[in-house]
Amino acid sequence: MTEEVLMGGPQERFQDFLKSEKYREGISHMAIAGKTSLIVDFEDLIATDSALAENILEKPDEFLEHANRAAFAQLQIEDPEYAEKTESVNVRFLGLPQTMPLRTLGAQHIGRLAMVDGIIIRATPARPMVTRAAFKCKRCGEISYRDQTSPFLRAPFSCDNPACKRKGPFDFLQDMSEFIDSQDIRIQERPEDLPPGQLPRWIDIKIFGRDLVDVARPGDDVSVIGIVRAAAPTLPRVGTLRTFTLHLDTNFIDVLSKEHEAVLISPEEEQKILELAKDPWVHRKILRSIAPSIYGYEHIKESIMYLLFGGVPKHLTDISIRGDMNVLLIGDPGTAKSQLLQYVSKVAPRGLYTSGRGSTAAGLTAAVLRERRGGMTLEAGALVLADKGVACIDEIDKMRPEDRVAIHEAMEQHTVSVAKGGIVATLNARTAILAAANPTMGRYDPYRTVAENITLPVTILSRFDLIFVLRDVPEKEVDAKMTEHILDLHRTGTAPVEAPISPDLLRKYISYSRGTKPVLTKEALERLKDFYLTMRSASETEGTPIAITARQLESLVRVAEARARAALRKEILAEDAEASITIMKRSLEEVGIDVSSQKLDIDLIMTGKPKSLRDKLQVVLGTLIEMEKETGMVDKSALLEKLETEREIVRGEAERLLGQMLREGTIYEPKEGHLKKT
Ligand SMILES: Nc1ncnc2c1ncn2[C@@H]1O[C@H](COP(=O)(O)OP(=O)(O)OP(=O)(O)O)[C@@H](O)[C@H]1O
Ligand SMILES: [Mg+2]
Ligand SMILES: [Zn+2]
Repeated sequence: MTEEVLMGGPQERFQDFLKSEKYREGISHMAIAGKTSLIVDFEDLIATDSALAENILEKPDEFLEHANRAAFAQLQIEDPEYAEKTESVNVRFLGLPQTMPLRTLGAQHIGRLAMVDGIIIRATPARPMVTRAAFKCKRCGEISYRDQTSPFLRAPFSCDNPACKRKGPFDFLQDMSEFIDSQDIRIQERPEDLPPGQLPRWIDIKIFGRDLVDVARPGDDVSVIGIVRAAAPTLPRVGTLRTFTLHLDTNFIDVLSKEHEAVLISPEEEQKILELAKDPWVHRKILRSIAPSIYGYEHIKESIMYLLFGGVPKHLTDISIRGDMNVLLIGDPGTAKSQLLQYVSKVAPRGLYTSGRGSTAAGLTAAVLRERRGGMTLEAGALVLADKGVACIDEIDKMRPEDRVAIHEAMEQHTVSVAKGGIVATLNARTAILAAANPTMGRYDPYRTVAENITLPVTILSRFDLIFVLRDVPEKEVDAKMTEHILDLHRTGTAPVEAPISPDLLRKYISYSRGTKPVLTKEALERLKDFYLTMRSASETEGTPIAITARQLESLVRVAEARARAALRKEILAEDAEASITIMKRSLEEVGIDVSSQKLDIDLIMTGKPKSLRDKLQVVLGTLIEMEKETGMVDKSALLEKLETEREIVRGEAERLLGQMLREGTIYEPKEGHLKKT
């Protein structure tokens, strides 16, 4: 760069910068793309003229004007015809040297250019805004023009006609005024950027210009470059408040991809991850690393593992099938449901913990809200904010009625559609859901169906891949172990079992695994097919309206995919299919489906346990109670004897029924070989 250039004015210096091949080309292509703005990589400017770059950061109001004029001057050279048409060019900057954490933005930044990252939580529709207003004097008919900068439309102080000069009244002439497109959005710190235990902060963003309006929707991750402004609300007759709120006047808004998100993995960590994946016990290790402080619940932790890794979404030309899993935990109070959810929200690469009511007015899905100054704004709910992550929804049975309708679409199609108050939008909600609910009647009643136990419609229940019931049942051996576990935890202040994989590494491992897209091998496919078809045919011959539906088949595939992924395998092996079938059976059993007799009936979730089974359980329990009245504790062999001879329930079946009742906690074994009703 020569001395003369450096000594030129800011506009000349910027124009000189634009004379590099890259930007000359960009400018000459503006006409073809019909653009009125030019995107400039800030790094390029720093490399060419760092002093000018510094000026733009410090005094953007002044220097962005120079940049715009320079770009227009260059357009006049490259494409005079198009320049005449567009009349001006906006320079948009891409990527400042550093991102400003939203919570550090303060008074010292006012008037400067800053770049902040966040997730859009609300947005108004695009609205035209007057930049130059035309007013007609009602006295003389003269038309006066005024540039508009304040939030309110300002009429001239007096008429421009020297012979009139009266203070109006004036008529606003819409068709002679100039408008630009504008939009207000609000961005909030991303869940993963949040310091532990802090509530997310947000900032309002003002967007001007056709090229920037509507480029991003609620739920999108964005990087916004803008001038930091402070504004105070003006109250009529009171004045302007002394405390100002910050917002950004946008120069550029860049929608970030969520695929390769901010989890940075060092080469050493990658090495560790690859080694871990080779371990034949990798699944055990991951499982033991999930909430080690929580005792038991192996099958639930296993499902959580699958949920964290997730299946592979399929995007076909006509339809899309979700890869993320939905898991529901229904449980008695104090069974560590909330603890599990909290844990998952912390270890999942983009985890979000919320209650069924949601933490904002938007609830779980989305809401159209009326703004203070009139007009509508679309606000994203928890599932939209957790897009591409895991939403942990506690007390899902207490969600808003609006969400009950919208969540169906969110859980299967992974979108949230809104058409209300003039806003029509479809937002992404590609999330895995881990939800918890309490039984309606306080405690889970094993003789009722899942649907009877919680206040969620079957249409929502059927969208969960796996459902488990956590019951607080006194059980001597387990109780002893758990007591020891919990007391140990309180005594030492550490988890009694150490996690083989640290939460930090686990998060990175999960993030890393997303690159693996496992495919079913022939063997795995056969296993799944066999299981599914056996279950289907069992229902056929019985002539009952049974269906383990295509939904369960898709769930089976997802679990198998997730298991392969957890070992970073590209192939889904027979063992993955087996594990998937095992956990699916367990879940079906827990919701009251009789797997052992192969009479799988997903309709039972609605209608109740098979009548025959319920009847038999009643008979067994009745007999037990009868005998208990006589002897106190009931001798098991005597009971089995009586059931076989007097009640026509064969020994094998009776044992199975007793086993089920023991598991469900209706009865217990106070002494080896003796039974008692709980
Ligand atoms: N299996 C367990 N291992 C270790 N701690 C447990 C276990 N079960 C319960 N606890 C402890 O019991 C307490 C209650 O758990 P939590 O609040 O998660 O229950 P919850 O299932 O969400 O109950 P609610 O339905 O009432 O909300 C927690 O401190 C938790 O650590
Ligand atoms: Mg809870
Ligand atoms: Zn006049």
